[in-house]
Amino acid sequence: MASMAAPVPFLTADQIQRRVAEIAEAVAADHRAPDSEPLWLVGALKGAIFFLTDLSRALSAVSTRPVALDFVRTSSYGAGTKSSGEVRFLQDVEHPLAGADVLLVEDIVDSGYTARALLDHFAAKGVRSVRLAALLSKPDRREIEVPVDYLGFEIPDKFVVGYGMDHAERYRHLPDVRIVEEG
Ligand code: IMP
Ligand code: MG
Repeated sequence: MASMAAPVPFLTADQIQRRVAEIAEAVAADHRAPDSEPLWLVGALKGAIFFLTDLSRALSAVSTRPVALDFVRTSSYGAGTKSSGEVRFLQDVEHPLAGADVLLVEDIVDSGYTARALLDHFAAKGVRSVRLAALLSKPDRREIEVPVDYLGFEIPDKFVVGYGMDHAERYRHLPDVRIVEEG
């Protein structure tokens, strides 16, 4: 196995939690009515699970609107550094979501292909609305334009791990975000 230096701290758990609370306020303000219908948080597995669970709990503190959860799983072809832009759906949501207000929850928007494919995918289901929340964005890496309605942090073009994000399936469990320095 290739040796790798320990990831370097980048965003603390405290910074992340404070930002998640702010995002929850903005999401609640934009999704007030109709109060009886749930807001569907749709998480992109696996990277978005921490952001989704923290955001949903932060929403419960600032909104009385019901919240429902569902998940999708995608993988993008081209495992190397260059994304082919072809996004494959490995798992779709369990519920139909036609007419629903959907908040797509992503860990990180990099080239933008995954988020773009997911937004188009939900629009095609006839949802009432679909918005995108991403904890992180690397604007320097963008290859296709995608509107990020709620963004945690803009970050430089570095590979990050923790808070759901992995490097070869490691580091997802960390409560903070760190930068991997390969060497
Ligand atoms: P995109 O389609 O190029 O925007 O890639 C989005 C997906 O790539 C994210 O949902 C992550 O799963 C993965 N990804 C991109 N950058 C990173 C990173 O720095 N660390 C971990 N995963 C990443
Ligand atoms: Mg990943």
